[in-house]
Amino acid sequence: MNDLHGKHCIITGGAGSIGLAAAKLLRAQGARIALVDLDRAALEAAAARAFGAQTDGIALLAADVSREDEVERCVGDAVSRFGQISVLFSNAGNFGAVAPIETYPTDVFEQVWRVHVLGAFLTAKHAVPHMQSGGSIIITSSVAGTRGDPGVYGYITAKHAQTGLMRCLAKELAPRGIRVNTINPGPIDNAFQKRVEDGLGAEIGRDGTEFFNEIIPMHRHGTPEEIARSVLYLASDQSSFTTGIQLGVDGGMSA
Ligand SMILES: NC(=O)c1ccc[n+]([C@@H]2O[C@H](COP(=O)([O-])OP(=O)(O)OC[C@H]3O[C@@H](n4cnc5c(N)ncnc54)[C@H](O)[C@@H]3O)[C@@H](O)[C@H]2O)c1
Repeated sequence: MNDLHGKHCIITGGAGSIGLAAAKLLRAQGARIALVDLDRAALEAAAARAFGAQTDGIALLAADVSREDEVERCVGDAVSRFGQISVLFSNAGNFGAVAPIETYPTDVFEQVWRVHVLGAFLTAKHAVPHMQSGGSIIITSSVAGTRGDPGVYGYITAKHAQTGLMRCLAKELAPRGIRVNTINPGPIDNAFQKRVEDGLGAEIGRDGTEFFNEIIPMHRHGTPEEIARSVLYLASDQSSFTTGIQLGVDGGMSA
Protein backbone atom coordinates (compact mmCIF):
# COMPACT_ATOMS: atom_id res chain seq x y z
CA MET A 1 0.00 0.00 0.00
CA ASN A 2 3.02 2.27 0.07
CA ASP A 3 3.38 1.78 -3.66
CA LEU A 4 3.54 5.14 -5.44
CA HIS A 5 4.14 3.95 -8.99
CA GLY A 6 2.18 6.14 -11.38
CA LYS A 7 1.99 8.93 -8.78
CA HIS A 8 3.42 12.40 -9.27
CA CYS A 9 4.52 14.46 -6.26
CA ILE A 10 5.43 18.12 -5.93
CA ILE A 11 7.72 18.83 -2.97
CA THR A 12 8.43 22.44 -1.99
CA GLY A 13 11.52 23.19 0.03
CA GLY A 14 12.83 20.25 -1.98
CA ALA A 15 16.50 21.24 -1.75
CA GLY A 16 16.29 21.20 2.05
CA SER A 17 16.74 18.50 4.63
CA ILE A 18 13.19 17.17 5.16
CA GLY A 19 12.06 17.82 1.58
CA LEU A 20 14.97 15.90 0.12
CA ALA A 21 14.62 12.99 2.56
CA ALA A 22 10.95 12.73 1.56
CA ALA A 23 11.86 12.94 -2.13
CA LYS A 24 14.28 10.03 -1.77
CA LEU A 25 11.75 7.83 -0.01
CA LEU A 26 8.82 8.67 -2.28
CA ARG A 27 10.98 8.17 -5.38
CA ALA A 28 12.10 4.79 -3.99
CA GLN A 29 8.39 3.85 -3.81
CA GLY A 30 8.02 4.66 -7.51
CA ALA A 31 6.70 8.24 -7.49
CA ARG A 32 7.89 10.84 -9.96
CA ILE A 33 9.02 13.95 -8.10
CA ALA A 34 9.09 17.66 -8.90
CA LEU A 35 11.44 19.34 -6.43
CA VAL A 36 10.71 23.05 -5.94
CA ASP A 37 13.04 25.46 -4.16
CA LEU A 38 14.33 29.00 -4.46
CA ASP A 39 17.60 28.40 -6.20
CA ARG A 40 18.37 26.22 -9.23
CA ALA A 41 22.00 25.57 -8.18
CA ALA A 42 20.87 24.41 -4.71
CA LEU A 43 18.30 22.12 -6.34
CA GLU A 44 20.93 20.62 -8.63
CA ALA A 45 23.33 20.04 -5.74
CA ALA A 46 20.56 18.44 -3.64
CA ALA A 47 19.42 16.18 -6.49
CA ALA A 48 23.02 15.11 -7.14
CA ARG A 49 23.39 14.18 -3.44
CA ALA A 50 20.13 12.25 -3.31
CA PHE A 51 19.91 10.65 -6.73
CA GLY A 52 23.37 10.81 -8.33
CA ALA A 53 22.98 10.05 -12.01
CA GLN A 54 19.53 8.47 -11.49
CA THR A 55 17.63 11.62 -12.49
CA ASP A 56 14.88 9.74 -14.31
CA GLY A 57 11.53 10.77 -12.81
CA ILE A 58 12.96 13.89 -11.14
CA ALA A 59 12.19 17.47 -12.20
CA LEU A 60 13.92 20.49 -10.66
CA LEU A 61 11.86 23.69 -10.58
CA ALA A 62 13.18 26.95 -9.16
CA ALA A 63 10.40 29.08 -7.67
CA ASP A 64 9.59 31.27 -4.70
CA VAL A 65 6.41 29.81 -3.15
CA SER A 66 5.39 33.24 -1.86
CA ARG A 67 5.08 34.61 -5.43
CA GLU A 68 1.91 33.62 -7.22
CA ASP A 69 3.31 34.01 -10.74
CA GLU A 70 6.22 31.70 -9.88
CA VAL A 71 3.97 29.10 -8.21
CA GLU A 72 1.61 29.10 -11.19
CA ARG A 73 4.51 28.68 -13.61
CA CYS A 74 6.17 25.90 -11.68
CA VAL A 75 2.94 23.92 -11.15
CA GLY A 76 2.31 24.28 -14.90
CA ASP A 77 5.83 23.01 -15.62
CA ALA A 78 5.34 20.04 -13.29
CA VAL A 79 2.02 19.14 -14.91
CA SER A 80 3.35 19.42 -18.45
CA ARG A 81 6.29 17.21 -17.46
CA PHE A 82 4.45 14.47 -15.51
CA GLY A 83 0.68 15.08 -15.87
CA GLN A 84 -1.83 15.19 -12.99
CA ILE A 85 -0.53 15.85 -9.46
CA SER A 86 -1.13 13.06 -6.94
CA VAL A 87 0.69 14.46 -3.90
CA LEU A 88 1.56 18.02 -2.89
CA PHE A 89 4.09 18.12 -0.05
CA SER A 90 4.04 21.79 0.91
CA ASN A 91 7.16 22.01 3.01
CA ALA A 92 9.17 25.18 2.22
CA GLY A 93 10.06 27.10 5.33
CA ASN A 94 12.15 29.79 6.99
CA PHE A 95 12.50 30.56 10.68
CA GLY A 96 12.71 34.32 11.13
CA ALA A 97 13.69 35.80 14.46
CA VAL A 98 13.23 35.42 18.20
CA ALA A 99 12.63 38.76 19.93
CA PRO A 100 10.38 40.38 22.51
CA ILE A 101 7.08 41.66 21.12
CA GLU A 102 8.22 45.30 21.40
CA THR A 103 11.18 44.75 19.10
CA TYR A 104 10.14 41.82 16.89
CA PRO A 105 10.90 43.07 13.34
CA THR A 106 7.65 43.46 11.40
CA ASP A 107 9.33 42.79 8.05
CA VAL A 108 10.63 39.44 9.38
CA PHE A 109 7.16 38.56 10.68
CA GLU A 110 5.72 39.24 7.21
CA GLN A 111 8.46 37.30 5.44
CA VAL A 112 7.87 34.20 7.60
CA TRP A 113 4.11 34.37 6.96
CA ARG A 114 4.68 34.84 3.24
CA VAL A 115 6.62 31.56 2.99
CA HIS A 116 4.61 29.31 5.33
CA VAL A 117 1.07 30.64 5.01
CA LEU A 118 0.84 32.45 1.69
CA GLY A 119 3.20 29.86 0.15
CA ALA A 120 1.12 26.90 1.33
CA PHE A 121 -2.08 28.67 0.19
CA LEU A 122 -0.70 29.47 -3.27
CA THR A 123 0.71 26.00 -3.91
CA ALA A 124 -2.63 24.44 -2.95
CA LYS A 125 -4.55 26.99 -5.01
CA HIS A 126 -2.62 26.17 -8.16
CA ALA A 127 -2.08 22.44 -7.60
CA VAL A 128 -5.66 21.45 -6.64
CA PRO A 129 -7.10 21.99 -10.16
CA HIS A 130 -4.64 19.30 -11.31
CA MET A 131 -5.48 16.81 -8.54
CA GLN A 132 -8.04 14.03 -8.60
CA SER A 133 -9.68 11.63 -6.16
CA GLY A 134 -6.96 9.76 -4.28
CA GLY A 135 -4.76 12.86 -4.07
CA SER A 136 -3.04 13.96 -0.88
CA ILE A 137 -1.83 17.35 0.32
CA ILE A 138 0.62 17.38 3.21
CA ILE A 139 1.68 20.66 4.80
CA THR A 140 4.75 20.71 7.05
CA SER A 141 3.67 22.55 10.15
CA SER A 142 5.60 21.83 13.37
CA VAL A 143 5.27 21.09 17.05
CA ALA A 144 5.56 24.89 17.04
CA GLY A 145 2.07 24.87 15.50
CA THR A 146 0.67 23.34 18.69
CA ARG A 147 2.21 25.51 21.44
CA GLY A 148 3.53 28.97 22.21
CA ASP A 149 7.02 30.06 23.20
CA PRO A 150 8.24 33.53 24.10
CA GLY A 151 9.48 35.66 21.22
CA VAL A 152 8.92 33.19 18.36
CA TYR A 153 6.20 35.38 16.84
CA GLY A 154 6.63 34.85 13.11
CA TYR A 155 7.30 31.10 13.10
CA ILE A 156 4.83 29.96 15.75
CA THR A 157 1.92 32.05 14.47
CA ALA A 158 2.60 30.95 10.88
CA LYS A 159 2.77 27.27 11.90
CA HIS A 160 -0.58 27.65 13.73
CA ALA A 161 -2.09 29.37 10.67
CA GLN A 162 -1.13 26.39 8.50
CA THR A 163 -3.50 24.30 10.64
CA GLY A 164 -6.38 26.60 9.70
CA LEU A 165 -5.47 26.36 6.04
CA MET A 166 -5.26 22.56 6.28
CA ARG A 167 -8.67 22.33 7.98
CA CYS A 168 -10.39 24.52 5.35
CA LEU A 169 -8.82 22.53 2.53
CA ALA A 170 -9.63 19.19 4.17
CA LYS A 171 -13.35 20.05 4.45
CA GLU A 172 -13.54 21.54 0.95
CA LEU A 173 -11.69 18.75 -0.79
CA ALA A 174 -12.97 15.68 1.11
CA PRO A 175 -16.01 15.29 -1.20
CA ARG A 176 -13.57 15.20 -4.13
CA GLY A 177 -11.52 12.42 -2.51
CA ILE A 178 -8.48 14.63 -1.89
CA ARG A 179 -7.07 14.35 1.64
CA VAL A 180 -5.27 17.20 3.42
CA ASN A 181 -3.21 16.88 6.60
CA THR A 182 -0.34 18.57 8.38
CA ILE A 183 2.75 16.84 9.58
CA ASN A 184 4.08 18.37 12.80
CA PRO A 185 7.72 17.48 13.37
CA GLY A 186 9.49 18.09 16.62
CA PRO A 187 13.11 19.25 16.62
CA ILE A 188 15.05 17.53 13.85
CA ASP A 189 18.77 16.89 13.72
CA ASN A 190 19.56 19.21 10.81
CA ALA A 191 21.03 22.62 9.96
CA PHE A 192 17.66 24.45 10.16
CA GLN A 193 17.14 23.40 13.77
CA LYS A 194 20.83 23.85 14.66
CA ARG A 195 20.58 27.53 13.70
CA VAL A 196 17.51 27.88 15.93
CA GLU A 197 19.29 26.15 18.81
CA ASP A 198 22.45 28.21 18.44
CA GLY A 199 20.31 31.36 18.72
CA LEU A 200 18.42 29.96 21.70
CA GLY A 201 21.67 28.86 23.35
CA ALA A 202 23.04 32.38 23.14
CA GLU A 203 19.83 33.70 24.77
CA ILE A 204 19.70 31.20 27.64
CA GLY A 205 23.42 30.83 28.19
CA ARG A 206 23.57 27.08 27.69
CA ASP A 207 23.71 24.56 24.85
CA GLY A 208 20.43 24.88 22.92
CA THR A 209 20.58 21.34 21.53
CA GLU A 210 21.00 19.82 24.98
CA PHE A 211 18.15 22.00 26.21
CA PHE A 212 15.84 20.52 23.56
CA ASN A 213 17.00 16.98 24.28
CA GLU A 214 15.94 17.50 27.89
CA ILE A 215 12.44 18.75 27.06
CA ILE A 216 11.71 16.19 24.31
CA PRO A 217 10.18 13.20 26.19
CA MET A 218 12.20 10.74 24.05
CA HIS A 219 15.33 12.82 24.88
CA ARG A 220 16.59 13.02 21.32
CA HIS A 221 16.02 14.87 18.07
CA GLY A 222 14.21 13.24 15.17
CA THR A 223 15.82 12.53 11.83
CA PRO A 224 14.70 13.80 8.41
CA GLU A 225 14.17 10.14 7.47
CA GLU A 226 11.71 9.64 10.33
CA ILE A 227 9.68 12.59 9.04
CA ALA A 228 9.91 11.22 5.50
CA ARG A 229 8.36 7.92 6.63
CA SER A 230 5.37 9.77 8.05
CA VAL A 231 5.10 11.80 4.84
CA LEU A 232 4.98 8.49 2.96
CA TYR A 233 2.14 7.33 5.22
CA LEU A 234 0.11 10.48 4.48
CA ALA A 235 0.98 10.38 0.77
CA SER A 236 0.04 6.75 0.26
CA ASP A 237 -3.18 4.75 0.44
CA GLN A 238 -2.12 3.57 3.92
CA SER A 239 -3.86 6.73 5.18
CA SER A 240 -6.86 6.56 2.82
CA PHE A 241 -9.43 7.55 5.52
CA THR A 242 -7.23 10.16 7.23
CA THR A 243 -7.90 13.80 6.48
CA GLY A 244 -7.94 17.01 8.51
CA ILE A 245 -5.41 15.88 11.12
CA GLN A 246 -2.18 17.17 12.58
CA LEU A 247 0.22 14.22 12.63
CA GLY A 248 2.72 14.84 15.40
CA VAL A 249 6.15 13.29 14.82
CA ASP A 250 7.87 14.85 17.78
CA GLY A 251 9.19 12.33 20.29
CA GLY A 252 6.26 13.08 22.59
CA MET A 253 6.67 16.85 22.76
CA SER A 254 2.97 17.57 22.19
CA ALA A 255 1.77 14.87 24.61
N1 LIG B 1 14.19 21.24 11.22
C1 LIG B 1 13.28 21.14 12.18
O1 LIG B 1 13.60 20.83 13.34
C2 LIG B 1 11.84 21.36 11.86
C3 LIG B 1 10.88 21.05 12.83
C4 LIG B 1 9.53 21.26 12.55
C5 LIG B 1 9.14 21.75 11.30
N2 LIG B 1 10.11 22.04 10.37
C6 LIG B 1 9.63 22.54 9.08
O2 LIG B 1 10.06 21.62 8.10
C7 LIG B 1 10.11 22.29 6.84
C8 LIG B 1 11.41 21.94 6.16
O3 LIG B 1 12.47 22.43 6.96
P1 LIG B 1 13.93 21.74 7.03
O4 LIG B 1 14.18 21.39 8.43
O5 LIG B 1 14.07 20.72 5.96
O6 LIG B 1 14.83 23.03 6.72
P2 LIG B 1 15.68 23.40 5.42
O7 LIG B 1 16.15 24.80 5.61
O8 LIG B 1 16.70 22.34 5.18
O9 LIG B 1 14.60 23.34 4.24
C9 LIG B 1 13.71 24.41 3.96
C10 LIG B 1 13.77 24.67 2.47
O10 LIG B 1 12.75 25.63 2.12
C11 LIG B 1 13.30 26.46 1.12
N3 LIG B 1 12.57 27.73 1.04
C12 LIG B 1 12.57 28.74 1.94
N4 LIG B 1 11.82 29.75 1.48
C13 LIG B 1 11.32 29.37 0.28
C14 LIG B 1 10.49 29.98 -0.69
N5 LIG B 1 10.01 31.25 -0.51
N6 LIG B 1 10.18 29.31 -1.82
C15 LIG B 1 10.67 28.05 -2.02
N7 LIG B 1 11.48 27.42 -1.15
C16 LIG B 1 11.80 28.07 -0.01
C17 LIG B 1 14.75 26.68 1.56
O11 LIG B 1 15.55 27.16 0.49
C18 LIG B 1 15.12 25.29 2.05
O12 LIG B 1 15.72 24.50 1.03
C19 LIG B 1 9.93 23.78 7.14
O13 LIG B 1 8.60 24.16 6.85
C20 LIG B 1 10.20 23.86 8.63
O14 LIG B 1 9.53 24.95 9.23
C21 LIG B 1 11.43 21.85 10.62
